[in-house]
Formats: sequence, C-alpha cells, structure tokens
Amino acid sequence: RVTFKVGLLGLGTVGTGTAQILLDPADRQPLLQELELYRVGVRSLDKPRSVDISRDRLTTDLESIVRDPAVDIVVELLGGLEPSRSLILTAIAHGKHVVTANKAVIARYGEEIFAAAADAGVYVLLEAAVGGGIPVIEPLKQSLCANRIQGILGIINGTTNYILTRMQREGGDFGPILADAQRLGYAEADPTADVDGWDAADKIAILASLAFGGRVERSQITCEGIRAITASDIAYAEGLGFTIKLLAKAKRQHQGDTWRLEASVYPTLVPLSHPLASVNDVYNAILVEGDPVGQVMFFGPGAGAGPTASAVVADILNIAAVLSAGSDRDHLDPLLACRYLQTVEL
Ligand code: NDP
Ligand code: HSE
Repeated sequence: RVTFKVGLLGLGTVGTGTAQILLDPADRQPLLQELELYRVGVRSLDKPRSVDISRDRLTTDLESIVRDPAVDIVVELLGGLEPSRSLILTAIAHGKHVVTANKAVIARYGEEIFAAAADAGVYVLLEAAVGGGIPVIEPLKQSLCANRIQGILGIINGTTNYILTRMQREGGDFGPILADAQRLGYAEADPTADVDGWDAADKIAILASLAFGGRVERSQITCEGIRAITASDIAYAEGLGFTIKLLAKAKRQHQGDTWRLEASVYPTLVPLSHPLASVNDVYNAILVEGDPVGQVMFFGPGAGAGPTASAVVADILNIAAVLSAGSDRDHLDPLLACRYLQTVEL
C-alpha cells in the first residue's frame, strides 16, 4: 500500500544512502513502508550503482521527474547551483514538496525558493544541508524558537575537520588527505568549496538566516579556508595548548540599542580545554547560545552517505507524516518561510 511517491534527483554518495534506507524499511519508522522510490534522475544510466534499483526507474530527464503528476516529494541531491535551483523551483511550481541537502543553492536562492514554496503551499526541508546527520535545522526552527539567539559557533565542514585532524595526528600536507576525504564521500564535487571555507560559509549563512532572520549574502561573510595551515602550525599550536579548527561564527554585535550580525569562517586557535577542540575527523559540532536557554551543543557526523541520508529521510518522513495527517498546506513551515523574508542589518 504505497501512499507517497518519491522522485529522487541524484544517486551519488547521499542519493545512494537515501535510496538504501527507502528500500530497506524493516525495523524503522513504519511510515517508510508508505513511501515508494518511484523515479531516480542521474547523469549517466550506465554507471555501476551500489544500490539495487531497476534500470527502468532511472532517467537522465530530470525535468520529467519534477513535472510528473504522480510524484509527491522531490528529493534534490545533485549538488551545484544549476540545474538544482531550476529543478527545485519547477517542482514547487508543480505542487511537489521538496527535500534538499544543497546548502549552496539554499544559501544563495533560499529567499526565492521559500517564497515560491509559501505561494504554492508546499514544504521545502533541508535538515541535511547543515551538519550532515546532526539534527540542527529543525531544532533551531522549533525547539529553540522561544530564544533570542545571541550567537552560533561551530565546526560545520566535515572534510576540513577530517583533514586538520589527520594533519595533527600524522603530519604531512593536506593534498593526499583530501583525496581520502573525497574517496570517503565527504568532499563536495568541487572540493575547493570545502578547502577554501565557502561550504562552511553557505552553512553559517543558512543557520544565521534561521536564527536571526534575514538573508546573509556570501559577500557579507569574512571567509578564509585551511589552505595556508601546515602540520607544523598545528604541532606548534598544540605545544602552546591549542588546536586549529575551521570555525564558523555568526554573532549579534550590540551597538547601543541596535545590533548587527557578524558572520565569519576562519581557521582558529581553539584552547585544548574547549569542547570544540575534541571534535575530530568528520564530526561536526554547533554551539548555539540563546536567551534564556544558555549554551546548547549539537554534535555528530557532519558528512558521508549514511549520516546525511539519515537527515534526508527524516525530512521525507516528516512531510509524509504531515500529509498523512491531512494538515492544512497553507500553514506549512511558517517560521522558515517568514524568517527568510525578513531583512537584517549586516
Ligand atoms: P555526488 O557528486 O556524489 O552525486 C551527485 C549525483 O547527482 C550523481 O548521482 C550524479 O549523477 C547526479 N547529477 C549531478 N548533476 C547532474 C545533472 N546535471 N543531471 C543529472 N544528474 C546529475 O554528490 P553528493 O551525493 O556527495 O552530494 C549531493 C548533495 O548533498 C550536494 O548538494 C552536497 O552538497 C550535499 N551534501 C553532501 C554531503 C556528503 O557527505 N557528501 C553531506 C551533506 C550534504 P551520476 O551518478 O550519473 O554521475
Ligand atoms: N562537503 C561537506 C563537508 C559535506 O565536508 O562538510 C557535508 O555538508
């Protein structure tokens, strides 16, 4: 008894992990059995796949998936700006709910996408876009929404944390370690986004938009990656009681009665006693400071097929749960939609 049809765009690292969960529902959330992996969009039909999907479900015609009247939920796991943005907007225009892990698209086009979703009365969920398997988007939107958020500080790129951790343990340059991160499925298709800090910048922009309201442009984020960091820098820092982490920060800076947002990504000396100093390998951690909650830390695997698919499928299930309950589509996701439409001084 299939109730909801999923159109999956992309069958790479995260797409494969997502398909594996959808095709193996036993002993998981019962609602999974009401989802059908209906069609899958890829670039190459001939590529060997590590998940058992019949060839007739695969297509290179991605437009046909987002326009297919039978599809209820479109899951965008392609990466990059185009055709991802256009396909998401077309899916929304055709009344599909959308799940995406694409932080690059959301950081740049979130405002346009959420406005379109609000008009169409559909969900756009993005838990996997920040922190891989860590639940942080939905907790920020929901569980912490009573707070005035003061700041967010975190390690939000798995690839660079993996590289820095291995440089600390083994010495050596980051080049060969980056190749391992790519092999493990942590890095972006173009890993310069990881190494130069822009993947983390996109993620802090998304978190800041949720936490503080308004749109945060790339040009408003001070960004520096890890290219200049050497193993001897890390060893030297350690001798002084520090480690080096690529930290992303978004913080309220008070100026009299007003405030402005300061957002940055840069390699930082972190005291070894600080909780972020012991976040190693592909793990991420996000420290949120709110009034009145105080400090809350989210920790977990920040990249990779399984962890990221865990977040993607949770979003699919959350949408399916709302649809199953017959909730009013006009009131979907009010916090996310509204917050993207506000403006904030940067
Ligand atoms: P991959 O490069 O492993 O997979 C991309 C998939 O999309 C492939 O199946 C590819 O097809 C398909 N694809 C890409 N472009 C096109 C196109 N123009 N037309 C048709 N098919 C296309 O990426 P990931 O799975 O690593 O990442 C997917 C998304 O998830 C990205 O937005 C990424 O930022 C995000 N993300 C990734 C995480 C990770 O750990 N990898 C973690 C969190 C988010 P084919 O297989 O035929 O080549
Ligand atoms: N390339 C990203 C990272 C994937 O390494 O963190 C998870 O968003």
